[in-house]
Amino acid sequence: MLQCRSGPLVDIGSGDGRIVIAAAKEGFTAVGYELNPWLVWYSRYRAWREGVQASARFYISDLWKVTFSQYSNVVIFGVPQMMAQLEEKLELELQGDARVIACRFPFPHWTPAQVTGEGIDTVWAYDARSFRAGGGRP
Ligand SMILES: C[S@@+](CC[C@H](N)C(=O)[O-])C[C@H]1O[C@@H](n2cnc3c(N)ncnc32)[C@H](O)[C@@H]1O
Repeated sequence: MLQCRSGPLVDIGSGDGRIVIAAAKEGFTAVGYELNPWLVWYSRYRAWREGVQASARFYISDLWKVTFSQYSNVVIFGVPQMMAQLEEKLELELQGDARVIACRFPFPHWTPAQVTGEGIDTVWAYDARSFRAGGGRP
């Protein structure tokens, strides 16, 4: 869902780093923010082992304290309870050319440009130009 796109990528809640590392291998400059320091240290080790440490960076951070305005590609696999608040935050912060990928749990108000997979493997892609132009919350 991010094929043919460029610009920096962020995985919000990057877990063991798999998305950021896969994105770096695809040529993105990719960043992960993760609350759990053990997972960040492990992610850094994995990135080094896979040779992408220069383009896959990880930070121990609370996602609610990070501003995402510099990212044009955003990936999130969170929990359902956070999606409404995160939707508002991203709507305020992202530039018009951004694309947001939500894994397993969709955003409550935005209309996806693309949906793929099924069941727990469903993924939604949202383009900022549609939710910033009034296609989002009433
Ligand atoms: C479902 S996992 C997704 C991991 C990874 N993005 C993936 O797709 O494999 C969600 C991750 O978000 C992290 N997380 C939860 N709340 C967070 C917060 N407030 N700030 C940063 N990370 C958070 C959790 O520690 C967990 O590693």
